[in-house]
Amino acid sequence: MRSTPEARMDPGRRQPRAWKARALAELTAARARLLRMLEGLPEDALTRQHSPLMSPLVWDVAHVANYEEQWLLRRLGAPALTDAAFDALYDAFRHPRASRSQLPLLTPERAFAYAARVREASLEWLHAAPEDSDEPLLRDGFVFGMVAQHEQQHLETLAATLQLMTSHVYRPAERPRPRPARAAQYEVLIPGGPVHLGSDAPWAYDNERPAHPVDVAPFLLDSHPVTNGDYLVFVESGGYADARWWEPKGFEWMRAQGLRHPLFWQPQTGGTWLRRRFGQVEPLPYDEPVQHVCWYEADAYARWAGKRLPTEAEWEKAATGSDGQPRTYPWGEAPPTAAHATLGGDTWGPSPVGSHPEGVSSDGVWGLLGDVWEWTASTFHGYPGFSAFPYREYSEVFFGPEYRVLRGGAWASAPVAVRNSFRNWDYPIRRHLFAGFRCARDMR
Ligand code: AVJ
Ligand code: FE
Repeated sequence: MRSTPEARMDPGRRQPRAWKARALAELTAARARLLRMLEGLPEDALTRQHSPLMSPLVWDVAHVANYEEQWLLRRLGAPALTDAAFDALYDAFRHPRASRSQLPLLTPERAFAYAARVREASLEWLHAAPEDSDEPLLRDGFVFGMVAQHEQQHLETLAATLQLMTSHVYRPAERPRPRPARAAQYEVLIPGGPVHLGSDAPWAYDNERPAHPVDVAPFLLDSHPVTNGDYLVFVESGGYADARWWEPKGFEWMRAQGLRHPLFWQPQTGGTWLRRRFGQVEPLPYDEPVQHVCWYEADAYARWAGKRLPTEAEWEKAATGSDGQPRTYPWGEAPPTAAHATLGGDTWGPSPVGSHPEGVSSDGVWGLLGDVWEWTASTFHGYPGFSAFPYREYSEVFFGPEYRVLRGGAWASAPVAVRNSFRNWDYPIRRHLFAGFRCARDMR
């Protein structure tokens, strides 16, 4: 399917006629990953509430299938498999995550069977769908791309739930991670000028549209994300006790929670550090990007270091490159591979910084895509001319100052769900995400 040189380009962007092959490949990849992730987990692990922040794993399985049924089947005229009362169980806006295990949910066996049945019907519908359509949902296969990205986003959510799980030992098979080529932290000068922010690519989300030019002043950006080793210096020099580095609201919250280090770190007597990663406790790897820090922790580190977090426009300017060429990925248009970035979830952790020389941006910035999400300074808002599509609840209802934007995707994000223009968002206190950061600094 990806054998011709043209097919190796991003077909969603360059080859509108090839969207069916890509849709089939992405839907199939997502489902294979879902089954791989949850295979062998006992019923209790699938149905239990592991954290008030997360749904029971089995909720996500049926939610993904119900979303697919609503958008790929019913909305486009296929006969319904379930009804509105069923939809309500899996409506993320109707039930907060912490209460979902109380609902009369499908059992794991039934949830997997429902997902398989929906998928079978979707693939038939995909086969029969017109290549060209005036229906906006179908144009260039948008709705298939939306469903594949949705499933992959929930698989990242499942990974976060599995990381929080303490009632069962989860030891996934891991794809080995590469060793770093070079990893010294330095600052890259990003020349000022216009950047083409956002995307009009066929599978881009409404919050990425419309693409529009923005002027960015010259600035300095860290060549790599901040590592565990870097962050440990902040921790050990008393960073969590010093209000000078923190936003007052963040400092108060962090002190009330008794935080002293990133989530899942474990200090040992004698000054060594361990961290829990899925089912195992291991020495803290100094050369990996720090993850499981909230926005307040990222912001405090940056201030301590005499720096700041980049805005999302600065981040995207760095990812695009100062030659002004629009780019889907920091390295260009080639779909991401293991040589470019750690993505897709099978490594169950980020690579050490400096592991991906092929993924470096045209200005020399490393690791912008994959490995860890990067917190930015920006709050989440619609771009000028924003219009909700295909529904307000994907993005628009979250616009406002209470959410911070993350960029770049993590090791647990799928290639189909990352690009230079992709915007993620969450509350500034959230620490369960596979999120780290890098620092920026004004030119003087
Ligand atoms: C874009 C990751 C913030 O998980 O809340 C999943 C994605 N939207 N189902 C989320 C999403 C609807 C969303 N994030
Ligand atoms: Fe969802």
